[in-house]
Amino acid sequence: MSKTALITGATSGLGLSYARYFASKGCNLIITGRREDIIRENAESLQNQFHVNVEVIIAELSSLDGINRFLAQIGDRTIDILVNNAGFGLKPSFVDTPETDVEKMLYLQVWCVTKLTQFVLKGMVRRNSGAIINISSDGAFAVLPHNVLYSSTKLYIINFTEGLHMELSGTDIRVQAVCPGFIDSHFHESAEMHMDKSRKGLFGFRDPDAIVADAMKDFAKKKVISVPDTGAKMIRTLVRFLPRNLFYRMAARFSSSLSGKK
Ligand SMILES: NC(=O)c1ccc[n+]([C@@H]2O[C@H](COP(=O)([O-])OP(=O)(O)OC[C@H]3O[C@@H](n4cnc5c(N)ncnc54)[C@H](OP(=O)(O)O)[C@@H]3O)[C@@H](O)[C@H]2O)c1
Repeated sequence: MSKTALITGATSGLGLSYARYFASKGCNLIITGRREDIIRENAESLQNQFHVNVEVIIAELSSLDGINRFLAQIGDRTIDILVNNAGFGLKPSFVDTPETDVEKMLYLQVWCVTKLTQFVLKGMVRRNSGAIINISSDGAFAVLPHNVLYSSTKLYIINFTEGLHMELSGTDIRVQAVCPGFIDSHFHESAEMHMDKSRKGLFGFRDPDAIVADAMKDFAKKKVISVPDTGAKMIRTLVRFLPRNLFYRMAARFSSSLSGKK
C-alpha cells in the first residue's frame, strides 16, 4: 500500500521539493500552505506528473487556534512520513520585533513542530514504522545579530530531533534534522530581506531540489543531522572550535555584510 507523506509549507521552496521527492517515490501527499492558488496548482501538477493522491490543507500554523484546527483536520489519518518544513524569517533586531511576530515564530517553528510530531508519532509508535524530517538551518549552528529568534528556534529543532532519535532507538521510526544554508526559495521575499540570490559559491543560494536530494542521501545513510551544503558544514565545524569572543566578532561582521538577514 502507498505511504502518505504530510509536508507543511509546500507552496514553494524546500517543502515543494520534498513533495516532489516523495511523490516521485509513489507516496500520496498531504500538503499545507496559505497561498491557496499556488498550493492547489502544485497539487494538480504533482498529481498529473506522479499519479499519486495529493490533498491540500490550507492552514495558518503560527497560532494556537490554527494549529489545533489543523490537527483536527489530520484526525486519525495514517501518516507514514512527516516533514516539518513551514517556516519564515524575521529582519529586525530582537528588541524591535513586534510581539505578534515573536509569538508567530514560536508557534510555527517550536509549538507546531512539537505538537504535530507528537500527534503523528503516536500512530508511528503503534505501527513501529515512520519517518519524521524536521527542517532546521545552518543558523542553528551560528546565531547572528538580527537572527536571534530564528536561530534559537532552529537550534530547538536540532535538540528535539536528536532527543527523539535516542528515545526511539530500537524502533523502526527514523528522525532527521536538516540544516541547509541559503535556499533559492520564497523565504527572503516573504521576510522582505533583499538578498542577491544570484550569489553562488560556498555561501551562495542553492536549488531546493538539490538540497532535498543531498538530505535524502544522508537519510539513507541514517544520519540524524543532515547538513547538505559545504558552506553550512564549514560553519558547523568552525563554530565549534572558535574562541567565543572571536566568533562574536566574525558573526557581527558576517551579519552586516549581508544586505538582508537569513
Ligand atoms: N531560505 C533559506 O535560505 C533557508 C535556509 C535554511 C533553512 N530554511 C528553512 O527551510 C524551510 C522552508 O523554507 P523555504 O526557504 O523553502 O521558504 P518558502 O519558499 O518561503 O517556504 C516556506 C513555506 O512555509 C509556509 N509558511 C510560512 N509561514 C507560515 C505560517 N504562518 N503558517 C503556515 N505556513 C507557513 C509557506 O506557506 P505560504 O507561502 O503559502 O504562506 C511556505 O509554503 C523553513 O523552515 C526555513 O526556515 C530556509
